[in-house]
This record gives sequence, structure tokens and C-alpha cells, in this order.
Amino acid sequence: METGPGNLPRFAQDPKESAFVQDPYPAYRRLRALGDLVVWEAYGFPVSARHGVVSAALKERRFGREILQVASREELGWPEPAAHLAPFLAFEAGSMLEREPPVHTRLRGLVNRAFTGRAVERLAPEIARLAGRLLDAVADRWEADLLPAFAEPIPVAVICGLLGLPVADGPQLVAWSHAMVAVYQFGATRAVEEAAVAATLAFSDYVRAAIRDRRARPGEDLLSALVAARDGADRLSEEELVATAILLMNAGHEGTVHALGNAVAALLAPGVDRRAIFADGEATRRTVEECLRHDPPLHLFTRYALEDFDFAGHPFRKGDRIGLLLAAANRDPVAFDDPEAFQPARIPGPHLAFGAGIHFCVGAPLARLELAIALPILFERLPGLRAAAPPRWRDSYHFRGLERLDCLW
Ligand code: HEM
Repeated sequence: METGPGNLPRFAQDPKESAFVQDPYPAYRRLRALGDLVVWEAYGFPVSARHGVVSAALKERRFGREILQVASREELGWPEPAAHLAPFLAFEAGSMLEREPPVHTRLRGLVNRAFTGRAVERLAPEIARLAGRLLDAVADRWEADLLPAFAEPIPVAVICGLLGLPVADGPQLVAWSHAMVAVYQFGATRAVEEAAVAATLAFSDYVRAAIRDRRARPGEDLLSALVAARDGADRLSEEELVATAILLMNAGHEGTVHALGNAVAALLAPGVDRRAIFADGEATRRTVEECLRHDPPLHLFTRYALEDFDFAGHPFRKGDRIGLLLAAANRDPVAFDDPEAFQPARIPGPHLAFGAGIHFCVGAPLARLELAIALPILFERLPGLRAAAPPRWRDSYHFRGLERLDCLW
């Protein structure tokens, strides 16, 4: 067997190969069989497809999303950042997702305080009304692409409502968000980076105007709460406030749209018994968790080693990266019985669709609520729902979302 750094096995899979993008799970099985850590050549660093390793790495405080707080670029042998990326890097510097303690703790604490379970629960009737309205609009057409008709508008309207931004601005915010997150795709080009920077600048101006408005006329929304935190003793800088609003907007819909789409595709697959999946609250909860386990929308997150240490038998050096394959971990037979099978009645296990450790998804309660409300309404309103074509996934590894969701009913 060929080996890589530290004698790790190597894995040669092009992340852009169509067959892989359409179904990465066979490759994940091969990766998992190779060992705890395997060097994925296209990325150039070790990744893990095993549940125990991915889960432990997410919780390991000697791994972090940020490295420049403990090592200089010179020490890491990194070049200066490309000048054209400066506005995007400034956004990341204020984003809790890209920071480690103590900055992460402060940013996340402020959001957590505003993002309470009660604030999320209050959204339930509005999510139900929204789902109903969207289905009313297509019900007598008998066929539609449910991605734009159903899966996309719900998370966008919900996160706009939570932040207190006009729902009518949703399409523009989504366009900026898509342009920004595209830089995280494998093989992002200079053009993709430039589009991300332009979107960051435009989105930041938009949020600054919304903040000025909220400062003059505070409301009940999350942005007003964050503005109050900015102006209070806790110190959220203006840049952090802007970045937090953008992060919530982007993270608030990118994952949920595709979690909804992937869930519908899984539930419409041949052989799924749909009679009991939403029979009551517990059945719905199980179905939602199984959809998230079986085919989550975000597959790969990375960490840096913040110091030299041994992990999973491999000597990591400060600044080394590790790739954590959440979707592969979710199908590890060590953690789940018959993991490739989609079983909505399965008792939920410790899936990693929302990550783990200090970066565990802040929006998980909201995403779960959206799925638990929208999916039963869809299958109740359109009882004859079926797929009009086999699902086709978008060519954007490591995001996993459908290109279209053509259905008949
Ligand atoms: C099904 C939908 C979603 C999925 C699968 C998902 C997944 C994730 C994952 C895996 C992480 C951790 C990343 C890491 O460890 O490096 C994360 C973080 C985060 N998510 Fe989500 N997410 C979803 C929906 C949402 C929603 C609705 C919101 C906000 C309203 C949100 C806001 C965030 C934020 C702010 C973070 C950063 C947390 C931190 O760094 O402490 N997400 N999400």
C-alpha cells in the first residue's frame, strides 16, 4: 500500500469527479477501510471517515479552526495573504466559525444569549404558515421543482425573519451568500474569490445600513439584540457585529435548504414506507434525525493542530491540517447498525451532521424545527408526492445539495 506523511495510507479520489459528487458514500467506505487517518491526495492532508476519530477530533481542544493566534505565517511557511482577499479575511476575522477561544467564546456567548430556545420555538407557527402558503401556490400544478418552490424559500424567510431583515431582500442575500461560501469549495478559482469579495463588501454595506436602522428603531429581532450587545459592556466590535449577522444569514440557510432537499429525496426513494414517518412528534423527530444522519448537507470540515501532539496514532505538528468527514462518520458501522440503510424509525444515535465540540452548530435547534414542521406539512398536503426523476446533486463538493427536486403529485 502506498503511504503518505507519517506513513499514513493515501487516497486518490478527485473531489470533482462526477460519479463521486453524485454518490460519495462508496468512496467514504473505502476511506474508512483504509484506517483512522488517510491522506486524501487532492487535499494534501489526512482525513478521517471514522466516527470515533471525527468525533474525538471535533472535541479535541488542541485542534482549532484558527491557527494564526498561536503561530505566525513565517513559522508556518505561509505566504502573505493575497491582497484581493482582504475584505473576505476581515469578515472571517469577525466570524465565530473561524475563531477560537477567547474570541470564539465571547462571540458565541452573545449569539447564544439572543438565540434562545424560546426565540426559536416562537417561530414554529410562522414556519407552518409559510410551508402551507408555498404548497398552496403549487398544489394544483401537479408538478414542480420543489427546490425553488419549497426547500429554498423556507430557511431564507425564517432566518430573515429571525434577524429582522425584509423577506423581500431574501433573493439578494442568498445570491451574496452563495458567492461567499463558494470559496470553500474544492478548487475555488480566482474568479470565485473575486466574486466572494464583491459579495462580502455588498453584504457588509447592507448589514451596516440595517444596523443603523435598528440602532435608531430597535425591534424584537436578533439583529436588535446583537446591536444592544454591541453597544453594551460585552464588546462586540462593529466588524464582529456585521460578520455575525452575515454568518447567521449564510449558515442559517445554506445547510437547511439542502438538508430539506436531501430529506425529501431520501423519503421519496423507492422502498421507503411513508405511512408512519410523521405519525407523531417522536416519529417526526426520528425521521428528521435519520435524514440528517443519512445524507447531511455539509460533508467536510477541517481543523489545524494548535501544537505538536499525537492523535489517532499520528504525530501532528503545529499547523498541520486534518479533514473531518461528517457524512462518512454518520455511516460508520461502529456507531450505527446497518448504516447505509435509510431507516426513518431508527432510534437516533450520535450523528455528526451538526458537528460537535465548541463549534457545534448554533442553529441546530432552528434547523431541526424547520425540518420537523416543513416535512410533515409537505407529505400531508401532497399525499401522492413522488419523484419525477432520479435525484441529481450539484457539482460542489463538499456541500451536498440537489440540483433540482422535480416532483409529481
Ligand atoms: C441542517 C442545517 C444545518 C447544518 C447541517 C449545519 C451544520 C453545521 C456544522 C457541521 C457546524 C460546525 C462546523 C465546524 O465544526 O467546523 C455548524 C456551525 C454553525 N452553524 Fe450550522 N448547520 C445548519 C443550520 C444552521 C442554522 C439554521 C444556523 C443559524 C441560524 C446555523 C448557524 C451556525 C453557526 C453560527 C455556526 C458556527 C458555530 C461556531 O463556530 O461556534 N447553522 N453548522
